[in-house]
This record gives sequence, C-alpha cells and structure tokens, in this order.
Amino acid sequence: MRVTEAHDLTAPGHPRRKRFLRVALPDGVTYRTADHLTVLPANAPDLVTRAAAALGADPDTVLDIRPTRPRGDAIAVDRPLTVRELLTHHVELQERPTAGQLAALAAADPCPPERAALATLTDDPRTLVEILEDHPALRGALDWPALLDLLTPLRPRHYSISSSPAVDPGHVDLMVSLLQAPARSGRGVYRGTGSGHLMTLQPGDTVYARVQPCPEAFRIDATASTPVVMVAAGTGLAPFRGAVADRAAALAAGAELAPAVCYFGCDAPDADFLHAEELRAAEAAGAVLLRPAFSETPEGEVRFVQHRIAAEAEEVWALLGAGARVHVCGDGSRMAPGVREAFRTLFRKHTPDADETTAERWLDGLIADGRYTEDVYAAG
Ligand SMILES: Cc1cc2nc3c(=O)[nH]c(=O)nc-3n(C[C@H](O)[C@H](O)[C@H](O)COP(=O)(O)OP(=O)(O)OC[C@H]3O[C@@H](n4cnc5c(N)ncnc54)[C@H](O)[C@@H]3O)c2cc1C
Ligand SMILES: NC(=O)c1ccc[n+]([C@@H]2O[C@H](COP(=O)([O-])OP(=O)(O)OC[C@H]3O[C@@H](n4cnc5c(N)ncnc54)[C@H](OP(=O)(O)O)[C@@H]3O)[C@@H](O)[C@H]2O)c1
Repeated sequence: MRVTEAHDLTAPGHPRRKRFLRVALPDGVTYRTADHLTVLPANAPDLVTRAAAALGADPDTVLDIRPTRPRGDAIAVDRPLTVRELLTHHVELQERPTAGQLAALAAADPCPPERAALATLTDDPRTLVEILEDHPALRGALDWPALLDLLTPLRPRHYSISSSPAVDPGHVDLMVSLLQAPARSGRGVYRGTGSGHLMTLQPGDTVYARVQPCPEAFRIDATASTPVVMVAAGTGLAPFRGAVADRAAALAAGAELAPAVCYFGCDAPDADFLHAEELRAAEAAGAVLLRPAFSETPEGEVRFVQHRIAAEAEEVWALLGAGARVHVCGDGSRMAPGVREAFRTLFRKHTPDADETTAERWLDGLIADGRYTEDVYAAG
C-alpha cells in the first residue's frame, strides 16, 4: 500500500512521539471503522548492518533458500535474495533469544570460554544481535542452514485504523506511538521494530499491509439508540476517532443520535491531544462530548481517565442506566485495569450494601452482555 500523508501528531520535542499516517488502499480493498491494519515492518538499515557484521556475513551475498523439510514457522521466501534483504524484510533482529536458541549458539561456539558463558545464560536482557556481538567467536561459526533455523520470521504488527470510510473509503489513517526507551541491556536506545519502521515512512513510500476486520463487539454503531462511553489513553483513541467521524457523518445526514462521551488520556493539551482540532469541531457539531484527562497538568484529583470517570460518577451512572455500552481501547497493562476499578467503584457507590464481589459480578455481567468491551494491548 502507498503512504499518501505522514506527519507528527505530537508537539515538536515531545518525548513520546506519535505519528499520523494515511495509506491508500489498493483497488477493491475495503474497510470498516475500527478494523485493524496488519503491517509487515522492515528492520532499520543500521540494525541490519550490525546484524550482518555480528553474523560475519557480507550483506550483498545472494542466498538461494530452499526448504529441506516442512516447517510451519519457516522463513517464507520463494526467490534468491541478498543477506541484506533477508535481514531487512524477513527476520526479527531485536528479540531476546529463547533457551533453545541460546543452547544452539553455545553448541556452535568454537571458543570454550564463550561456549561456557553462553551455556549459563538465563533471562538475559540482550537481544540476539547483542549476544552475537558479545561472542565474536560465533562470527562465521554458523552456516546458513543453522542461521536460518536460529532466526525467527518477522512478525506482522497490528494498528487500529483511526479513520472512517464514511469520510474516505479509499484511505485508512493510523496513529502510531513510537516505542523508544533506554535498552534493557543497558546498551543505547531500544526502538520498536514496527513503530520505528512506521515512523520513518514518507508520502510515496510503500508499506506491506492488509486490512484485518476487528471483532464485531468492538464496533460502535453510530445510530444506536443507546448511549456510548468511549475510554482511551494515547493512541488507544484510534478507533474512537473513526467512530466520532461516523457519528458526525450520520448527524450531517440528519440522523438523531444517542449521547456519546469520549474519555481521553494524554500528557498535556498542547503536547499530545491527538487530532484535537478535528475532535473539538465534532464536539461543536454535537457528535461527541470530549472528556480529556491531562496527566502532566492534572485538574484536582483528575490525572488519568479513570479519575475523570470517578469525578463524573453521576453522569456515567446515568448513561449506564440508559443502557450505555462502554468501549475501552489502548494500554492494557495499566489503564484498562484502572478503568475497570473505576467502574466497579461506580457500582459500589450507587448500590447499597454492594461489596467488591458483587461489583466484580456486575462488571462481569456487563462484559458477558457485550456492554463493556476492551480492545487493549500491553507493549513493553
Ligand atoms: C489489536 C491491536 C491494535 C493496536 N493498535 C495500535 C495503534 O493504533 N497504535 C499503536 O501505536 N500501537 C498499536 N498497537 C500496538 C502495536 O501492534 C505494536 O505492539 C507496537 O507498535 C510496538 O511494536 P514494535 O514492533 O514497535 O515493538 P517491538 O520491536 O515488537 O518491541 C516490543 C518488545 O520489546 C520489548 N521492549 C520494550 N521496551 C524495551 C526496552 N526498553 N529494551 C528492550 N526491550 C524492550 C518488549 O518487552 C516487547 O517484547 C496495537 C496492538 C494490537 C494488538
Ligand atoms: N487496540 C489496541 O490494542 C491498541 C490501540 C492503540 C494503542 N495500543 C497500545 O496502547 C498503548 C498506548 O500507548 P501510547 O504511547 O499511545 O500512550 P501514552 O502516551 O504512553 O499514554 C497516554 C496517557 O495515558 C496515561 N497513563 C499512564 N499510566 C496510566 C494509568 N495507569 N491509567 C491510565 N492512564 C495512564 C499517560 O500518563 P503519563 O504521562 O503519566 O504516563 C498518558 O497521559 C501502547 O502500548 C500502544 O501500542 C493498543
């Protein structure tokens, strides 16, 4: 697919960069709001150069890979390719080696002290390339069949589509959060493979991707007669931007809509309030009520979305009473559990004699009825 637009969504210098990408869909490819784009990334050129050096391989060497035995997770190539192409497009280079991979490296290392050191490694924070770099005797010690057994095929990454086909059926938009932090190995900076790749794309570039339908439960029906409560932090806003656009289009076509409230957590209004202008225009048109929470500039007790839900307990409870469906999207490790806790607290506050167990059962009931759905993920 061809990238047609790319720009940062965060203010210049913001430490957690987020980027907008618009991608043209090939003829005949369609999508629905909240679907995902599954992207096959490419490893960064400097990492590929490092990996080739650590393997003792010339990047321009041409390999003709033919499977000798059936293997479900084999690297899928059907033509001769250079070492550079193999390392760029076909294998993971930043994963930490498994116990099996470490054992294979130890067995192949001709240097006894290095072999002994490799054999004792457990739960090591270094990536495969870093371990190869730290054991120079491995350079050239593995032949290509052994290396191909060792390297894992590149995994596609999923990104929520942030646009609506009601606005433009021929393009999909993404909001991508760059995973970048001091490396756990203590060596330099770790930059995520998929998010790092998408950050480098410019208009005119090609991205290998396909549209993947989301589970039906994640879809938000713009014209439903019951209210909707959307809860997101950071790029978790993606499917809700599409849902708000659907509602704006339905309003413009004369539909009468049930209320929609969007809780959105970010750092600061002028730093990373993603698509703020567009969303404020949609709010002015009556398509959504925006409820941001700013973690760097908290208002009273409200730092995260769950705090704002707690602060607006009466309104949220009334929406639930009117049959509201709740959708939560984004960070699954910290935000989603916090939001669940906020809803359980809401129930306890409004239900005499309710304890933690009955609150838990109430939330489980909402989930079982499809009235509380989470499209969440934990990276890092
Ligand atoms: C359904 C779905 C929808 C999604 N939608 C979006 C979206 O709209 N926008 C978005 O930005 N993301 C989205 N994601 C997340 C996205 O798919 C990727 O997981 C994310 O971009 C990180 O992938 P990466 O390839 O950059 O990181 P990877 O290269 O895969 O790195 C992740 C790995 O690195 C490790 N790691 C993390 N930090 C460090 C460190 N400091 N040092 C060493 N290792 C480290 C982690 O433990 C993890 O194993 C979605 C995920 C799912 C499942
Ligand atoms: N469908 C999906 O599965 C999906 C879709 C999109 C994104 N994602 C994933 O979701 C994650 C979101 O990352 P991001 O980089 O976009 O967001 P982010 O910028 O890291 O965080 C957004 C906001 O959430 C706040 N936050 C921190 N801890 C919180 C907590 N315990 N509860 C509630 N809010 C909290 C942050 O505050 P602080 O500044 O204080 O940290 C910040 O204001 C990523 O892992 C991304 O890959 C998944």
